[in-house]
Amino acid sequence: MKLWGGRFEKETEALVEDFHSSIRFDQRLYKQDIEGSVAHARMLESIGVLDEGEAQAVVQGLQEILRDIQRGAVVFEVGAEDIHMNVEKLLTERIGATGKKLHTARSRNDQVALDLRLFLREEIDQIKDLLGGWLETLLALTEEHIETWMPGYTHLQKAQPITLGHHFLAYVQMFLRDLERLKDTRKRLNYSPLGSGALAATTFPLRREMVARELRFAGITRNSLDGVSDRDFALEFLAAAAILMMHLSRLCEELVLWSSGEFQFVVIDDGYSTGSSIMPQKKNPDVAELVRGKTGRVYGDLMALLTTMKGLPLAYNKDMQEDKEQVFDAVDTVKKSLLVMEPMLRTMRVNREVMHQGAKGGFTNATDLADYLAKKGVPFREAHEIVGRLVLRCAKQQVGLEELSLAEYQEISPVFAEDLFTVIGIEYCVRNRNIPGGPGPEAVSAAVAQSREELRRISWRQEEPGEDG
Ligand code: ARG
Repeated sequence: MKLWGGRFEKETEALVEDFHSSIRFDQRLYKQDIEGSVAHARMLESIGVLDEGEAQAVVQGLQEILRDIQRGAVVFEVGAEDIHMNVEKLLTERIGATGKKLHTARSRNDQVALDLRLFLREEIDQIKDLLGGWLETLLALTEEHIETWMPGYTHLQKAQPITLGHHFLAYVQMFLRDLERLKDTRKRLNYSPLGSGALAATTFPLRREMVARELRFAGITRNSLDGVSDRDFALEFLAAAAILMMHLSRLCEELVLWSSGEFQFVVIDDGYSTGSSIMPQKKNPDVAELVRGKTGRVYGDLMALLTTMKGLPLAYNKDMQEDKEQVFDAVDTVKKSLLVMEPMLRTMRVNREVMHQGAKGGFTNATDLADYLAKKGVPFREAHEIVGRLVLRCAKQQVGLEELSLAEYQEISPVFAEDLFTVIGIEYCVRNRNIPGGPGPEAVSAAVAQSREELRRISWRQEEPGEDG
């Protein structure tokens, strides 16, 4: 018999049973569900709905169920639909009629909203920790490669020389923003919807704040309709996860390129590469490709939930049961991706010499030559034109700008002097770009220190109620 069977004259069709049951996936919320029920039961006791003995029986029963689930001794029932009714059913089987009082002044609608918030809050904290470790690795690599010269690109064409450290530090900025986005998501998520009931709260004098405190929320939601129909927190998380994956994916794309025979900038460790079943020589950057590929599923999770929510009338609709698999999938994908990326990047070998050589080709010092003229009073637009003509000449002769003689330079402009050769040295080009945000080693060092400070600030844990305002 169904927990809601009273009003029905016929059994649910087997096909429907299977179709609408969510226990297959929402059993993942068992811990949060039980945690929420324990807090609810204690609060019911405090307002006299449960007497002391009843509350104790309920809490003890729930704790035993938790232990049994954790040691794999519980078989969930598809017929009991979801984790909420499975737990309630188990409780009543164990402690008898008292178990039937637990659901007083509560609906699965506010219950599931609560469970998902509790779940995501924990997962966000774990992802924040993983991201913190990942950022430490990126910062260490930045420092290691603060003088590893490499070509910087636009349009994937060589543009200007930079350093690998500067390149890594760009990713540090992206992941710091991801960290901040997650922190921000957590802040808005951290309110207890319990007490919203099915949609219109309840006539029982529930002490919502007490439950919220017990569950370490910063406060309670302020409208019962919104309390049960809001999934913004899940969407915000998915959006943050999608952007984070996009960042990982861009880095992966670069690793795929850089490890190719054409670039040979880096060698990915054997432990993080795989071979081919037919081509004996192959060593493929599969891990980087897979992270890049999995980005698509997280975008999908975000799009799916946005689409599910679009056009839902207030308040709860069963459509919303679809939120969980998307959240779970995004959580798992982000965590696994961060876990595998960190050691892959840390163990990767960098071919400093190849990168340095690469920085030299492609006239990456042409802007510096134009700047040289501009600093001597030639209007920049004219300087650009002059250097453009020099580049054209070099390209035809297949030589670099540093290979022309001073006489050849002076043929085109009398402003050129011997010191031009210093200015167009690759190292010189990079070393002198030390304004804030620049690739010069001093600028990068300063930015590393600031980024570390930022990381400390964002990583600060906001655990206790009220602490985060
Ligand atoms: N399994 C449902 C979900 O995941 C729980 C809430 C169901 N409420 C309802 N009235 N059918 O959303």
